[in-house]
Amino acid sequence: MKGVILAGGLGTRLLPLTKVTNKHLLPVYDKPMIFYPIQALINAGIMDILIVTGGNNAGDFLRLLGNGKEFGLEHINYTYQEGEGGIAEALGLAKYFASNDRICVVLGDNIIERNIIGAVAAYRKQKRGAKILLKEVPDPERFGVPILDGDKVIKIEEKPKKPKSPYAVTGIYMYDNRVFDIIETLEPSERGELEITDVNNAYIERGELTWDLLDGWWTDAGTFESLLRATDLVSRTGANNTD
Ligand code: DAU
Repeated sequence: MKGVILAGGLGTRLLPLTKVTNKHLLPVYDKPMIFYPIQALINAGIMDILIVTGGNNAGDFLRLLGNGKEFGLEHINYTYQEGEGGIAEALGLAKYFASNDRICVVLGDNIIERNIIGAVAAYRKQKRGAKILLKEVPDPERFGVPILDGDKVIKIEEKPKKPKSPYAVTGIYMYDNRVFDIIETLEPSERGELEITDVNNAYIERGELTWDLLDGWWTDAGTFESLLRATDLVSRTGANNTD
């Protein structure tokens, strides 16, 4: 399985912090934000990684990460998203990198306390389809929210005003190669983006989406509140713990 980190977008919710740099290069406690999703993939044994970035500061990723020596990698792959066409658009750029392999996608602003070793192992055994990771949160209306029927996810709603469950769909997704065909069928949402939630709903319609609960805390870091929370959580417990 290959890994894809989505670190494009303009980070407008963090202006003026993102005026002269990319959101994923901002500090979360003692490391740049992008270090956390990279380490999460490596801890799950995924060493072949593509970073999708964008905006005016894409060159800084190369300067910061190089070929990934600091992470014990031999190589890191990069690609560039023009504009801010959405998470699914950014993922579409991974088509040639993925080739015929499956992929584990992590949003560049998602940080976890523990690891995804168990979920990745379970997905390796899954014959086809997708797997998402859910986490109970106090503010599900900020996220993709699953509607559950028993233990089945029957639909995901993107940022619903009245969430139908207390769970967030975290920004960690596992897909088979057909994800790229699905992305080609998507239409932009009301906010003008190709939505990852539409990708996941397409797998649900095919009866091919499984889910696990994520262990430990999970946070995004794309708003001032969540960036502060991420820094606080990492300072208390560290992130990407494997014990
Ligand atoms: O964090 C989990 C949530 O992420 C999910 O629950 C939602 O279903 C999903 O839509 C997403 O919601 P956000 O509105 O928080 O996503 P945001 O626009 O902040 O983008 C998250 C990351 O995705 C960002 O750090 C970089 C990447 N991205 C985003 C966009 C819009 C790209 O690479 N390109 C893009 O065009």
